[in-house]
Amino acid sequence: MDARPTGFSRVTAPHSDPVVRLRDFTRSFGDNTIISGLDLDIAPGEFVTLLGRSGSGKTTLLRTLAGLDPTPGQDVIVPDSRAVVFQDARLLPWKKVWRNVALGLRQGDVRQRAEDALREVGLGHRLDAWPLTLSGGEAQRVALARALVREPSLLLLDEPFAALDALTRLRMHELVLSLWTRHRPAVMMVTHDVDEAIALADRVVLLDQGRIVLQERIDAPRGERGQVARALRSRLLGALGGQVSGGPSPAEVIALHAGGLA
Ligand SMILES: Nc1ncnc2c1ncn2[C@@H]1O[C@H](COP(=O)(O)OP(=O)(O)O)[C@@H](O)[C@H]1O
Ligand SMILES: [Mg+2]
Repeated sequence: MDARPTGFSRVTAPHSDPVVRLRDFTRSFGDNTIISGLDLDIAPGEFVTLLGRSGSGKTTLLRTLAGLDPTPGQDVIVPDSRAVVFQDARLLPWKKVWRNVALGLRQGDVRQRAEDALREVGLGHRLDAWPLTLSGGEAQRVALARALVREPSLLLLDEPFAALDALTRLRMHELVLSLWTRHRPAVMMVTHDVDEAIALADRVVLLDQGRIVLQERIDAPRGERGQVARALRSRLLGALGGQVSGGPSPAEVIALHAGGLA
């Protein structure tokens, strides 16, 4: 008997035609094994958040899904059409905002496509601005526009809002959800904020020492997750507890990152 509250459920069967598929994936740097024996599927249009403390291998995994690192001889499937947003917007300061979004686009009316994408993220009025005149939140909006203008089937986000203030971050959550609803890419978003992970995702995956130690599907509608969040939060923190002796526990570290959870 499973006594867990309704609203989330353990992940069991993988999707039959996933956009991402990793089997027994391992990544080492020299003698240092960062990820080992990892299996992961992401379904088309699925929103996955990836949680874990610093150094647990989140960025390493994201770089693999982004095709940024070689994976010779490994069982790794990722779609050709993918886009990445990092914590810093990585805009070219010598190109106007719309040109940053248009970068690398070749087909169609490039300026129009960049404009449309910038309007979607609420920046129709900053098309000709220079990147250095943008706020942090605006710069991340540009980075989102630059990612989405390519209509990726996989959108990868590596702690994209970690540097933003709390209010801006909440606005960005709404924006990401509305963009995701409209374009329906599969998303993998790295965060170390437990509440952010629960608020946004179809499925939360918890990585610790290069292994998936817990994953939970969240069935409750977004915006009605208060009760689920409380139960899932303690489950997530519990999964990280008691695995390390000495120093702060991983659960405590996560709680610190997440701000006021402990
Ligand atoms: N290119 C690299 N060379 C050597 N070690 C690396 C490299 N990239 C990451 N690592 C190591 O892998 C571990 C996981 O890093 P990372 O994936 O960035 O963690 P996270 O994003 O979860 O904080 C860290 O110990 C880091 O030092
Ligand atoms: Mg990282």
